[in-house]
Amino acid sequence: MKTRIIGVVSGKGGVGKTTTTSNLGAALSTLRKNTLLVDGNLTTPNLSLHLGIPFYPYTIHEILKGEAELEDAIFYHRSGLKVLPASLSLSALRKINLRKFGELLRSLEGKTEYVVVDSSPGLGKETQAIIEHSDELIVVTNPEFPAITDALKVIKLAESVGTSVIGVVVNRVRRHPKEIPKEEIEGLLEYPVIANIPEDPKVHVSIIKKTPIVFSYPNSSAARAFKQLAGFLAGEEVKEKRSILDVIFSFFRR
Ligand SMILES: Nc1ncnc2c1ncn2[C@@H]1O[C@H](COP(=O)(O)OP(=O)(O)OP(=O)(O)O)[C@@H](O)[C@H]1O
Ligand SMILES: [Mg+2]
Repeated sequence: MKTRIIGVVSGKGGVGKTTTTSNLGAALSTLRKNTLLVDGNLTTPNLSLHLGIPFYPYTIHEILKGEAELEDAIFYHRSGLKVLPASLSLSALRKINLRKFGELLRSLEGKTEYVVVDSSPGLGKETQAIIEHSDELIVVTNPEFPAITDALKVIKLAESVGTSVIGVVVNRVRRHPKEIPKEEIEGLLEYPVIANIPEDPKVHVSIIKKTPIVFSYPNSSAARAFKQLAGFLAGEEVKEKRSILDVIFSFFRR
């Protein structure tokens, strides 16, 4: 089986990496793609909270310490999605070997169709390991300069190690007149914008519900954008049934 290991990176924190990872995973599983999500944010993990994964004795941290095998730590979400969570405890951070982290990512080759790896904010060693050991990267940003500047750093780092960047996901788009437009982001980062995820209060509600918005509000504009992104990655067109009300609402949202 050919595996695509896709890292989700941003540089700046809080822009929507974990939201993108969980929803991309949800959308890929809706497309019946065999998908494993990995919490590669080893320092401040929260992918399991976005997905409602209960406390788990074995996580990626135990694997990296040689205290568990991959199979012990994989959580099978009711949607069919597989998740490798990270430990929420501070003590789990001790004795983590980052060289082993890269090896673990590469060892997933052949085990599933898609591996989507969430990353931590900043450009520390754990993020560098993801940039280096992924096949491809998705760069998440917001339509504002501080986030775009950091995205550019991630892109330069990816280019320096030869990992291909698929494109940019612009999250929290409000279509505000002062917001940096897609074309300008593409010009600055020199990569295509492959998804525009709107600012949507239902994203926040979905995090409280511990269910990706793709599952909790599948017809919301943000969920649709994530499903389009999954379709783009998988090379499949995602056809959405749109009611007349949706069409009218989307017209007024412009
Ligand atoms: N499209 C959106 N619309 C509204 N709110 C959003 C959207 N995307 C993300 N958020 C809000 O932003 C917060 C941060 O998102 P998320 O945790 O995905 O960012 P992150 O990049 O993973 O952060 P960190 O760098 O700390 O890991 C979420 O808790 C959510 O409330
Ligand atoms: Mg996160």
